[in-house]
Amino acid sequence: MKQFISTQDTTDINELVHKALEYKASPFKDKTLGAGKRMGLLFLNPSMRTRLSTQIAASNLGMESIVFNVGQEGWALEFEDEAIMSGNTVEHVKDAAPILGNYFDVLGIRTFPSLKNKEDDYSELYIKQFIKYAGIPVVSLESATLHPLQSLTDIITIRETFKEKRKPKIVLTWAPHVKALPQCVANSFSQWVTAWGEADFVITHPEDYELDKQFTEGATITHNQSEALKEADFVYVKNWSTYTDYGKIYCNEPEWMLTNKKLALTNNARVMHCLPVRRNVELSDEILDGTNSVVTQQASNRVWAAQTVLSEILKNK
Ligand code: CP
Repeated sequence: MKQFISTQDTTDINELVHKALEYKASPFKDKTLGAGKRMGLLFLNPSMRTRLSTQIAASNLGMESIVFNVGQEGWALEFEDEAIMSGNTVEHVKDAAPILGNYFDVLGIRTFPSLKNKEDDYSELYIKQFIKYAGIPVVSLESATLHPLQSLTDIITIRETFKEKRKPKIVLTWAPHVKALPQCVANSFSQWVTAWGEADFVITHPEDYELDKQFTEGATITHNQSEALKEADFVYVKNWSTYTDYGKIYCNEPEWMLTNKKLALTNNARVMHCLPVRRNVELSDEILDGTNSVVTQQASNRVWAAQTVLSEILKNK
């Protein structure tokens, strides 16, 4: 594996899942694979799970990791080629990234979208510029449109939880929120589940919350949440802002929040969320504190997804 940005960086999702579950059973089995290697973790935005799980994953492989909160502690970076830097940006990625490429063997980057300019966000300029100028493997720690380490984790969690011989029914449901959030997690989950191809996959959201079609090809899409939830084995709850009229909140009906009454429509579904979650806005206490929630297991599995991806990259170096 040369980089980890989307499903296109892997040819076999099941192999990654299998390997991740092996790491879960035996975390230190490759404890010298990353000896003498160093990973840089650049955060332009806040994080708890991604940051800590990737550091633990690197440590399990014997690789040093250094976190740099660029968004808070670094020089303001410019990403546009040929920019006249007379505004707020202080350093061009073209100058910074090659230095990071010399300091580190692997580079992880977290960026968020602006939610103001769809074309800019969906061009993935920030992460593409780091790939172009760093000259070392880049791992997305969440980009403007995708969150692949989260999605790999999600499939690992579904695979280890679902023991029946048939395909699981997985429902991705939109949920209310007080802020306009990126589409990354929903895009990425859709991309990974459809590429995986081992589930009946339904997406439900209010009108006007359609996701970019490039990520939802193969999914059934409905505005009827109750219909979607019927016989679901997994319900993945997530808010996202509008894609077409970009970055807006239209409908924000509290009725879209998952409750035990709605869960009764499902096949005793496991409930997933990437976290952080706004309790009793996006997801109810009764669900999060109930026995169907797998959110802690899911977040814990972030380590094994990251360790798998890093090991694949290290083996290729
Ligand atoms: N799910 C997730 O990416 O969590 P963090 O924002 O805390 O990293």
